[in-house]
Amino acid sequence: MLVRLDHIAVAVPDLSAAIRRFQEDLGLHFEGQEDVAAAQTRTAFFAVPGTHIELIHPLDGQGPVAGFLEKRGPGLHHLCFETDDIHGDMQRLAAKGYRFLSAAPTPGAHGSLVVFIHPKSADGVLIELTQRLSQPPAAE
Ligand code: CO
Repeated sequence: MLVRLDHIAVAVPDLSAAIRRFQEDLGLHFEGQEDVAAAQTRTAFFAVPGTHIELIHPLDGQGPVAGFLEKRGPGLHHLCFETDDIHGDMQRLAAKGYRFLSAAPTPGAHGSLVVFIHPKSADGVLIELTQRLSQPPAAE
């Protein structure tokens, strides 16, 4: 089940300039940077109450984000919803005819599992589902 909007991702050609924009000009709290080798991306995170903005940039100029920037230019890249059962959601949505970019979830940032719904299944919007594997213990 989807539980919250985890982040909104923006593809940027110049990561340092974009970090300065969100941190210094817009005043968002910069949470740090992480390279996600499996997705060939360098990511930067900003906290917004209840969710995050994620900047994504091609790692070593390669990979799907490089292709996106070349084809469509900088801009909104995907929405990501947190799920408490990524495999269950994949099965449920696949049964309704949704297509995914991979046959199974793959490692994402912060030790999570992620999978992407094909934009053709969702009015042109790329939707990521993520499940955190190291959940903090739920408050009683
Ligand atoms: Co994402």
